[in-house]
Formats: sequence, structure tokens, C-alpha cells
Amino acid sequence: MCGIVGYLGEKKATPILVEGLSKLEYRGYDSSGIAVVEDGEIKIEKCRGRLSNLKDKVAGKEYAGSIGIGHTRWATHGEPSDVNSHPHSNEDETIAVVHNGIIENYIVLREWLISEGYKFVSETDTEVIPHLVDYYFDGNLEDAVIKATKRMEGSYALGVVAKNDPGKIVAVRKDSPLVIGVGEDGKESFIASDIPAVLNMTRDVYLLEDKEFVVMTKDGITIYDENKNKVEKQIFHVTWDIDAAEKGGYDHFMLKEIYEQPKAIKDTLTSRVVKGEKIKLDGIHLTKEQIENFDRVYIIACGTAYHSGVVGKYVIERLAKIPVEIDVASEFRYRNPLITDRTLMICISQSGETADTLAALRLAKEEGARIIAITNVVGSSISREADDVFYTWAGPEIAVASTKAYITMLIALYIIALYMAEAKHTVRETEIEKIKDGLLNLSEKTAEILNDVDTIKSFVDHLYSKNDVYYLGRGLDYAVAMEGSLKLKEISYIHSEAYAGGELKHGTIALIEEGTSVIALATQSELYDKQISNIREVKTRGANVLGIAMEGQTEIEKTVDQTIYIPKVMSILAPVLSVIPLQILAYYTAVQKGCDVDKPRNLAKSVTVE
Ligand code: F6R
Repeated sequence: MCGIVGYLGEKKATPILVEGLSKLEYRGYDSSGIAVVEDGEIKIEKCRGRLSNLKDKVAGKEYAGSIGIGHTRWATHGEPSDVNSHPHSNEDETIAVVHNGIIENYIVLREWLISEGYKFVSETDTEVIPHLVDYYFDGNLEDAVIKATKRMEGSYALGVVAKNDPGKIVAVRKDSPLVIGVGEDGKESFIASDIPAVLNMTRDVYLLEDKEFVVMTKDGITIYDENKNKVEKQIFHVTWDIDAAEKGGYDHFMLKEIYEQPKAIKDTLTSRVVKGEKIKLDGIHLTKEQIENFDRVYIIACGTAYHSGVVGKYVIERLAKIPVEIDVASEFRYRNPLITDRTLMICISQSGETADTLAALRLAKEEGARIIAITNVVGSSISREADDVFYTWAGPEIAVASTKAYITMLIALYIIALYMAEAKHTVRETEIEKIKDGLLNLSEKTAEILNDVDTIKSFVDHLYSKNDVYYLGRGLDYAVAMEGSLKLKEISYIHSEAYAGGELKHGTIALIEEGTSVIALATQSELYDKQISNIREVKTRGANVLGIAMEGQTEIEKTVDQTIYIPKVMSILAPVLSVIPLQILAYYTAVQKGCDVDKPRNLAKSVTVE
């Protein structure tokens, strides 16, 4: 996730900016850069790769400027490269900008600015900002920034400097975090997307609200609302240590990432799903004829990504009416799969680097299949080798156990299924609109679950001392059961298995005895009664059952020991919500057992060997 820093004071800005950026490295990034105002010029240094590359670039340059902005970029629009790195500037480099967030209407703005004679050099959404500020600039930077932001849709935290209004940093935020650090004697001020970047310089910060503007000069900090009325704010004194701050106050990255899911869902839907409009996918270039020509889809992935693919199979078959096979990537190549030029392969990989998934992709490509990658990492190997790419904009996932990446993979699969259904007219438009509506409401419903986790936590006392746990589900609930089971075993080291509700009695039910823990999902209305019967089968053999159902489906309470309700949604969208209690359950169980939640034993975040 991108990080911003800014400094205005009496010291040299460069070392302070680089140090601040190093404190934001934990957020994940693939390039970095700074802009320093010096001798009436803006000096920009930026490059792809680790911060050490930037340090090498600025070493020996001895910039004396004491005003500057810096950025670590986590690529979303445009691959990680020197030119796509921030700061971005206007053509004559008189205005420089660092930006976190996504400018949703950047294509429209870019086309308009080009028609006004502006030239673009990068693939980023951010580059529209310095040009827009340039367009409105008539000597006063904050006025130009205020006007520019009125044209921008989406989310942004900005730091802006201008050669022709020197001695100033202008900052603003909307739906993207930004804090203002207040240095000693009021002689220094800082901007940062996150408190750790300034914590070794000051513990006094202003926490900005959306659409508040800040003008920093050597005379102090002034905060305005969007209409340039002054805003009085209380200083917030930070008492946390740096470690806690990097996790945003959460005990572990996994918990932080679980709580980031509402935003991740929103970001992944942004500009792709709009009410009443056709799905827009700028990374996928399939014609209607090509989509109609596919006679088979293979979904290929590993681990959690594979589990998202199981949901994808149900959804694509139901909406786009194409037969889908789902394979674990390491198995796919060795079963002589039937691949033709009518095959579509969807490779799902958070990291985009998983060796088995990449190998399966290469095989299918050689045999003439069309490849869509779903990945979270721009410029990753899988994204580069695929024909089309769907980026999940989940932000970097640091905990080894995947949570927000999984949820956004589900969103990606719904969107791709709808995109194909629209092209093939396999589902009525009213149904498609209903699903789009449902998707657009998911972020809010996810937040609702996260606002009340007490019932979920109360089951942990029962679970954490167990040796075995069984997860049951039918249909889409079975796909989620697999993911819930994997989450529990990988971080709490409790053995667990997921079964299709109707399958248990064909053998595994022999293991159910007094006190066996079972987690049973029953969110699918058309399978509800059947799943209740399956739950009864384990209950009568002594199992202690936690049921997961949708609000209003209260019949389940007669059969289980405890129930967690998820907000009401269409059955097809339930996996996005029902997995959340399972993630939380796994997390708190692992914490109670004293496990190393973010770095479970034997596991790696990116598996680059077969
Ligand atoms: C589990 C988990 C792994 C990954 C798997 C594939 O929480 O994260 O099972 O899903 O190793 O990784 P990617 O998605 O990077 O290909």
C-alpha cells in the first residue's frame, strides 16, 4: 500500500524523507521517490525497487532543500517502473505530487487534459493530478489544489509542492489516511499517510478528516475545509510504540487485514461495477465472439486462491453457462488436461509468483488457451505472462494467512462471471442488476459483521483445546468450509477437515463422538433443509456444533449449540460474508493458543518452488 511523507522545516529534507519512507516499508511497496524544493527548483528522484535503490540515487547529491515530499508506491495503475513511481509532476516540473488512493475518473480527466494540450508520460491515474493543479494554478497552490480536487472522483491523500509558490506544502485527504505532524517550536511540520513515518520526529499530530486541506509554511500549519474556511483542530498525542503503530493499533497484521476487507471489497469493485452500466474491465480484452467461443474454463490456483476458485466454478457455471473445471495447480500439468484454442484458463494467485500456478499457465498458453490472471500484485510474473489481467486492489497482504486477498478474489470472480454473462446474454438483465446491487452493498455488510465479533469470539473457548474440527457445508457453503478449515489449521495448528454436508455419512461420520467440534454453514436457502438434516446427523452423535446462517434463517437454532448470523444477501454472494466469522474464529483461536499468527510455522507468503 502506498505511503506518503512530507517535511517542511529548517533541516535538510532528504534524509528525513528517506527515513520516514523506511518506516512505511512494512505497508508493502515496489518503488519510491522524493521531490525536494531547492533554489527555486523541484528536484525529483524516484526509482523502481527497494528503498535502498533510492538511497543510492540520492547519495552524494547533498540536496540542501528543507521542503520536500516522498512516496512509496504499491502499483495499481501501471506496472512498477521508474516512470510510474511518485512523485509525479507537470511537464515543466514546476508542480510535484505524491498520492495515495485511486482516482476513479482518471481516464476522463486524462482525455480532457490531453485535449487541452497536456502530455502524459506514465500509465498511472495519479499523473492527472499535477496537470490538473497546473491547469488551475495562478500563483496560489492551495487554491489550485482545491479546484483540482473538485474535479477528482475516488480516494486520495495528497502532498503537493510548487516551484512558483515556494515555501509551502499543501496536503488534502479523502477516503485515504493522512496525518499532519507538528514539530518542536512549531518550526517543523510533517505529513504522513501513517503515524510511524513521523513518530521518531514528533508524537503530536493532527488527524485529518475527509476533504480537509492543510497549508504548511515556515509560519505554521493552517487547516481548511473544502470551501477554505479555517478549521480548528485538537492535537492528538501519540502514546503507542512504533511496532503497534505499524499494525495500525492491531495486535497482528492478520487482524488488521481482516478489518481492511470492507475497503478492499470497495476498491476492487471501483469503476468496474456501476449500477445500470455494463461491467468495465480495462485489463481484459475479450470480444463477445471470443467469449461465446469458449467451450470450457479451467480455474487453476493453490491453497486459499484455489478455494476462491471453487466459488468461481459455481458462479461462472451459473451465470455464464460455461462448464468449469477447477484444479489445484500442482496437479493440473500432470493429468494431461484437454486444452484447445477454445479453452479459457483463469489463474488465481495473490502474489502472482506461485511456481505451480505459473507452470500451469505456461502449459495452457503453449497449447493455445486464453489466459486471464487474477492477482493482487501488479507486474508479477503471472500478470505479465497472462493475456488479460484482473487486479484485485486489496493492498499488500503481509500476514501469511490470506484474508483480504481471498475476499477480493471472490469479488473478481463474480465480476468476471457477470462480464461473460452480459456478453453471452445468459442471464436476464434484471438478475444481473440485482447481483451488481448486492455486490455494491457487500462492503457495508462486511463492516457490520466486523462491528460485532463477540459471539464469534465466545466459541473460541470451546475450540482452542480441540485436536480436530470438522467444517460442513453444501454448495457454495462447502467452498467456504474448505477455506475456513484451512485458515484454522494453518495458524492454530488444529487439525481440521471440510466436508460436503451430504458426504460425511459415507465414512468420516465414524469420527464424530461426544464433544467433537463441528462448524456447519447453512447460508444457501435452496439447500438449507438438507444441510439442517446433515447437521442433525452429527448432533445426534454428540457433536458440539457452531452454525453459520443468514439473518432470518433461525430454524437452525433448534439443531446447533450456537449460531452466528451473517447479514442477509443473495445466496450466491454469501461466501463473501460467511468466510469472515471463520477468519475471526481462526485468528482468535490461534491467539489463545499463543501461536505466531502472522508467521505460522513451515509456511511462506509466496511459494516460488514447485
Ligand atoms: C493460505 C494461503 C496460501 C496461498 C497459496 C497460493 O492462507 O495464503 O494457501 O493461497 O500459497 O498463493 P498465491 O495466491 O500467492 O498464489
